[in-house]
Amino acid sequence: MLGDGKKKSLSNFSINLSYKNILHIIQQKTSMKKILITGGAGFIGSHVVRLFVTKYPDYHIFNLDKLTYAGNLANLTDIENAPNYTFVRGDIVDADFINELFETHQFDGVIHLAAESHVDRSITEPMAFVMTNVVGTCNLLNAAKNTWKASGYEGKRFYHVSTDEVYGELHNPEDFFLETTPYDPRSPYSASKASSDHFVRAYGNTYKLPIVITNCSNNYGPNHFPEKLLPLMINNILHSKPLPVYGKGENVRDWLFVVDHARAIDTVYHTGKEGETYNIGGFNEWKNIDIVRLVCKTMDSKLGRPEGTSEQLITYVTDRAGHDLRYAIDATKIMNELGWKPSLQFEEGLEKTVDWFLNNQEWLDNITSGNYKEYYDKMYS
Ligand code: NAD
Ligand code: TYD
Repeated sequence: MLGDGKKKSLSNFSINLSYKNILHIIQQKTSMKKILITGGAGFIGSHVVRLFVTKYPDYHIFNLDKLTYAGNLANLTDIENAPNYTFVRGDIVDADFINELFETHQFDGVIHLAAESHVDRSITEPMAFVMTNVVGTCNLLNAAKNTWKASGYEGKRFYHVSTDEVYGELHNPEDFFLETTPYDPRSPYSASKASSDHFVRAYGNTYKLPIVITNCSNNYGPNHFPEKLLPLMINNILHSKPLPVYGKGENVRDWLFVVDHARAIDTVYHTGKEGETYNIGGFNEWKNIDIVRLVCKTMDSKLGRPEGTSEQLITYVTDRAGHDLRYAIDATKIMNELGWKPSLQFEEGLEKTVDWFLNNQEWLDNITSGNYKEYYDKMYS
């Protein structure tokens, strides 16, 4: 009989041990925190999934992603076989599917990144943004509320990842976005994110759902989809194609390395105060034309082209409709209250980013074949 101390033969002992081991594993599994990360196959989500899977072997990470044009499992090949990682393909807009997923897995936490994320696409297809960003977020809120109502909110957390674009645009160079800045979204993308933020706060207030929200500035880094400014410029420079700068290139964005955003998400998930909002940014503002020139210079040097070669590709094109002039985050609150700060300077981050794209040209080629070509021709012709 297992556990009978009278018969301590070697074989019984080893059976006994393995029985205990199995029990321990089962106990570990059942008490293991289960965290749902949505949009984990996208740019920022893939960095968050990697960080959580590798840093927290005691958590089981479920990555829920629809794999739209922006989702790419090639972003996660290094961790796809980790024992504490499961990928689930699904659409957050499908309420029945989301409810069933929550009932089956009884998640302890949600980190919600899934979204339609590109401003230019929101101008041509706003309804996709309403569906995923607003309806999809509400579906997740309902599922969390309903499953957690039974088990209690203790130890639970619904973390909504948002953007600085909800605050609108800045004109005065002295001004920054604070957590208290009134919302003033000006594109269909930022309006849909602002709406989702309001729903998340409303569920916190009305149903006492344990929520937390962060609003981050523009990210850059490895795995960035080449519809966004920096990877689009890197890809075009590689292929000596024109570099389309909107308007006069005078718009200002505040850039943060994606790994630092993932670190901030880890910090806020674990130590942020329930119900609070934290702005995330690196105090790193650049005019578009200046950042494009810096990318040109970095690429020329990496590719062994004479300095100035890539700058000749800069082409001013028709401005984006309703183009926000300037975003700039004041990240004092997260720095002072939670001790987070960016780990590297922009020039170092840009170098790492350019190196990553040059070393991963197959990734870039795969992404820029097929549908991307169609999008690019329609957008920039
Ligand atoms: P992304 O477009 O690279 O990735 C979005 C991911 O969501 C993709 O994997 C996509 O397949 C998935 N997705 C889209 N619709 C879905 C649906 N209906 N159901 C399930 N999955 C779906 O976006 P990103 O740049 O990684 O941004 C992630 C989040 O961070 C977004 O919420 C965005 O608003 C926010 N954010 C982004 C930035 C930035 O600079 N990129 C800055 C601040 C905040
Ligand atoms: P983008 O990367 O789309 O991020 P967001 O609009 O969310 O800030 O664009 C960053 C800035 O670069 C923005 O001011 C628009 C500009 N831009 C260009 O000038 N040319 C381009 O081809 C793209 C994609 C963006």
